[in-house]
Amino acid sequence: MKLVLFGAPGSGKGTQAEMLCAKLGIPSISTGNILRQAIQDGTPVGMRAEKYISAGQLVADDVMIDIIRDRLNQPDCANGFILDGFPRTLNQAQALDTLGVEIDVVLSLEISDDMVEKRLSGRRVCLNCGSVYNVEYFKPKTENVCDACGHALVRRSDDEPETVRARLKVFNETVEPVKDYYEKRGKLKLVICDEDKMVVYVRALEQLGLKP
Ligand code: AP5
Repeated sequence: MKLVLFGAPGSGKGTQAEMLCAKLGIPSISTGNILRQAIQDGTPVGMRAEKYISAGQLVADDVMIDIIRDRLNQPDCANGFILDGFPRTLNQAQALDTLGVEIDVVLSLEISDDMVEKRLSGRRVCLNCGSVYNVEYFKPKTENVCDACGHALVRRSDDEPETVRARLKVFNETVEPVKDYYEKRGKLKLVICDEDKMVVYVRALEQLGLKP
């Protein structure tokens, strides 16, 4: 299955991607994680992307399309994949078609801006293993320590309230053309995601015609 998880910052794309890739046995590809790794590694892409990410703006389409083209050519994508965070613009959606990548389903995670601000203000991440927590909804067993690897948890730099508002503004300005594009092709399915992550997961599976 070639699946896209589409939605606002903090809508739960990464959280759902983790559960869905375990269920479906296909890799989850997060463009945000790829960019953060590139920044950490100091690559040319990372250096180019950093100022956009920290300002809550989108990285240029040509950079993102190159990243996705390379990643989808890896052997682990042969039987399908979950895209988390790509496409985000009409250009990016059209680029998948140009690359000959036919998406089966786009799950659009629907959430209010207020809920996004609440979730992102409480998100804590492990920079060592990538695990994601929430001080309100998914607390680690020991405060600020990763359950999986024991490293310290941190707040993502783009989760500061001002940057979250900038990210939401960008999302709200770009969301409709992408949704229209997939709706016209009969690929768009909505998932209301304002409840517990397991409730949202079951709704996502229902939209994919699968049982938990
Ligand atoms: P990216 O990392 O993709 O950020 P995002 O899209 O803003 O999404 P997030 O990772 O913030 O949230 P999420 O939806 O994955 O939510 P999560 O599951 O963590 O991109 C970062 C930046 O990179 C962008 O701003 C841009 O600059 C650049 N970029 C990336 N891709 C790009 C592209 N294609 N084009 C151009 N630029 C690009 O959940 C959030 C929190 O809520 C967590 O704490 C979680 O525990 C909690 N939570 C999740 N589900 C629930 C639930 N059901 N109930 C309660 N809490 C929940």
